[in-house]
Amino acid sequence: GDGGGGSGGSSPFYVDSDGLQRQIDELASFSDSPVPSVTRVLYSDKDVQARRYIKGIMNQLGLSIREDAVGNIFGRWEGSEAGLGAVATGSHVDAIPFSGKYDGVVGVLGALEAIRMLKRSGFQPKRSLEVIMFTSEEPTRFGISCLGSRLMAGSEELARSLKETVDNQNVSFFDAADSAGYKMHPEELHNVFLKKDDYFAFVELHIEQGPILEKEGIKIGVVTAIAAPASIKVEFEGNGGHAGAVLMPARSPPHIYMGKETFYRNDAGLAAAELALAVEKHVLESGSIDTVGTVGILQLHPGAINSIPSKSHVEIDVRDIDEKRRNNVIEKVHQSAIEISKNRGVLLSEFKIINQDPPALSDKSVISAMEFAAKQLNLEYKLMISRAYHDSLFMARISPMGMIFIPCYKGYSHKPEEYASPEDMANGVKVLALAMARLSLQ
Ligand code: GLV
Ligand code: MN
Ligand code: MN
Ligand code: MN
Repeated sequence: GDGGGGSGGSSPFYVDSDGLQRQIDELASFSDSPVPSVTRVLYSDKDVQARRYIKGIMNQLGLSIREDAVGNIFGRWEGSEAGLGAVATGSHVDAIPFSGKYDGVVGVLGALEAIRMLKRSGFQPKRSLEVIMFTSEEPTRFGISCLGSRLMAGSEELARSLKETVDNQNVSFFDAADSAGYKMHPEELHNVFLKKDDYFAFVELHIEQGPILEKEGIKIGVVTAIAAPASIKVEFEGNGGHAGAVLMPARSPPHIYMGKETFYRNDAGLAAAELALAVEKHVLESGSIDTVGTVGILQLHPGAINSIPSKSHVEIDVRDIDEKRRNNVIEKVHQSAIEISKNRGVLLSEFKIINQDPPALSDKSVISAMEFAAKQLNLEYKLMISRAYHDSLFMARISPMGMIFIPCYKGYSHKPEEYASPEDMANGVKVLALAMARLSLQ
């Protein structure tokens, strides 16, 4: 049926909104947490089921499927000039713990629906069209965001560090990949790298994950830039001890660093708490509303009510649209970590910047294809930046890039209340289809 998203039963250029919603719901059932939340972590059984599901749809659509060493999945519709750089789209289907069913998924299932639409309408691509399902956009399992696209963009640093990467159960990256059916030799990571002219353009469809489009009643966001994310891991170590028997004082100097004279407590947990507050302070001091910082992970060891924390582990996410300003915050957080460790007589055993990515700009050619499509469809659009990161941040390193945003309920994301309406998704799918068609003929 027309599913409410179409422009009439006789036109083949309609979105099967019912079918798309059914697929979204079905994919959401591959989850390790209760409905309505979704949890789908890299290389877990649920992730493997989701992969199988996506490949099944690619197969039905007659796309030729390729999987690389880490499990990025490519479904290609060969164009009449297959030697030319292809026009690609795609996103991710992994989901952070207790999140929703639209983040990433709209950009994969919606892209496949866009292909279905173009096929139905009799379109013949000149440049090949491709849908990519990226491996692990979310950093949940290994602390590395955009793992698949980062590698595709040729990150030697990541190829190197994956050799030592383990999850919090001490399972290595390679063992985890193997368990999901991706057995590889570390050198094969280089086969994931793509060449600069493999793609003529890359466009990603995604829910906004912010409130602007909904609030302003605008149907389409045309993304012009993606903010610059960084993540940091910090560890403090102290002596720990009995929560009742060890006395409280010993906050102020002189404090013999890691030496004997720590009278009495050097609480690694309080060092972490103080650092979390320092992150907030430095972020606010930037003076810009675009600077944001979050401590999303704070773990204490041994994690017993009657034991002074002897170790703490903090993970910090800092972002800005201004790379310099963000790096300045990171520098101040580092200084604070050093000061806190001295004042509290705890050891700052790790301060590791996991990633410190530059922002990316959309390409004029892709922006104009998206604008063309929105105008053709009579959809009001707004040029905007993406505050969330996406695989597009890395695709921009090897291809002209652009992103299409659609509104989502109250801007909710990374929580179960995440929602996008069938009409808004249909609009996004149509803009994507038309933009890809246009780029394919260039
Ligand atoms: C991606 O999920 C992000 O955190 O922006
Ligand atoms: Mn996400
Ligand atoms: Mn996403
Ligand atoms: Mn994301």
